[in-house]
Amino acid sequence: MNIIDIILKKKNKQELTKEELEFVINGYVNNEIPDYQVSSLLMAIVLNGMTLKETIDLTDVMLNSGEIINLDLPDLVDKHSTGGVGDKTTLILGPIVAASGVNVAKMSGRGLGHTGGTIDKLESIKGFQVSLEREEFIKQVKEIGLSVISQSGNIVPADKKIYALRDVTGTVESIPLIASSIMSKKIASGAQNIVIDVKVGNGALMKNEEDAKTLAKTMIRIGESYNRKVVCVLTNMDVPLGKNIGNGLEVLESIEVLKGNGPKDLEMLCLRLGSIMVSMAKNISEEEAYNVVKENLDNGKALAKFYEFIAYQKGDINNISISNNIISIKSKEEGFITHIDTEKLGEIVKNIGGGRTNKEDSIDYGVGIVLNKKVGDLVFENEELVKVYISDKDLKINELLDCFTISEEAPKKANLVIDIIR
Ligand code: URA
Repeated sequence: MNIIDIILKKKNKQELTKEELEFVINGYVNNEIPDYQVSSLLMAIVLNGMTLKETIDLTDVMLNSGEIINLDLPDLVDKHSTGGVGDKTTLILGPIVAASGVNVAKMSGRGLGHTGGTIDKLESIKGFQVSLEREEFIKQVKEIGLSVISQSGNIVPADKKIYALRDVTGTVESIPLIASSIMSKKIASGAQNIVIDVKVGNGALMKNEEDAKTLAKTMIRIGESYNRKVVCVLTNMDVPLGKNIGNGLEVLESIEVLKGNGPKDLEMLCLRLGSIMVSMAKNISEEEAYNVVKENLDNGKALAKFYEFIAYQKGDINNISISNNIISIKSKEEGFITHIDTEKLGEIVKNIGGGRTNKEDSIDYGVGIVLNKKVGDLVFENEELVKVYISDKDLKINELLDCFTISEEAPKKANLVIDIIR
């Protein structure tokens, strides 16, 4: 078998066999095939797609590139987001669901493209260990009901390498690549019940509802072939979630939500996703589950669980990276905010150091943006639109102002939860 023939086959829109996918993925993991050839194949997949059979085969090959964990724990549920801007739901949901008596064992990713990643956010907490051995991971879930780790050790090493390569080669936005990346991790980390937040909109990887539905159905079909229950919740990413964008800033906002003081859109989404997770794991109705998760948010148990989880993974919650160089950006006009270019905002945060442009880049965890105004809000001339937390990179202020469309008429309110696909 030859890698060039495989690249050409995909370039010519043909279906790859499982053996060919094994040859590429295992060759890449074992450093026998270089980045540039895999990048070329990834781009051919982005452009020409994959059949469902190929996508299921690719997931299986990636999944089997490493260790598969059988957690053998009751009431286990996992959650994943396809990625958005300001999406810190895992940091809030994990503790809410664990405080509700459901085990959460989660493998998360780093930032990808213009979207942030949970692992980068957790690493903004000094000392936080994202890399745990299998036994430590299982022990933690058994003891406190919650652990979030990176693609560490030997669990889906293929995704770890391919994910980092996609991030810097313009090959992120592809339904088969996203579906296989997410589902290989979810299946390898052992949960029987999986909730996936499929983000839709200008700040998401899926820009329209049709693509988001196709992605959702693909992941559900992959789940079925492993006997896993998958529920996909399509949610709006035309605006950033909450107000804070940037790793350390998002941790701070998550704590505010757990204290009951966070933005209501973010709290509402976490309660909704949390009730689906608890309902699946405990086999109770979503209404019943909602009452449980709401109670555990309101009574402070979820906040206590968050602190317990951070401390267990050796994070110092009093030491979160936040830049102390803050610039206030004011509106040049008066009117209603009718649109926010969310993808561009994500790019700006990445470019001031909050994300990676090259695989080897290190992140500045303290930088980011706090929105003072969101879609639907009225802003006056010279009133603050955003605060930018910055350190050593240049900020293009006009580029940032251009992310906001301001008009005389207020926009229609959009629903945060668009659809639920089971
Ligand atoms: N999340 C993942 O884990 N993988 C993707 O490809 C996109 C989002």
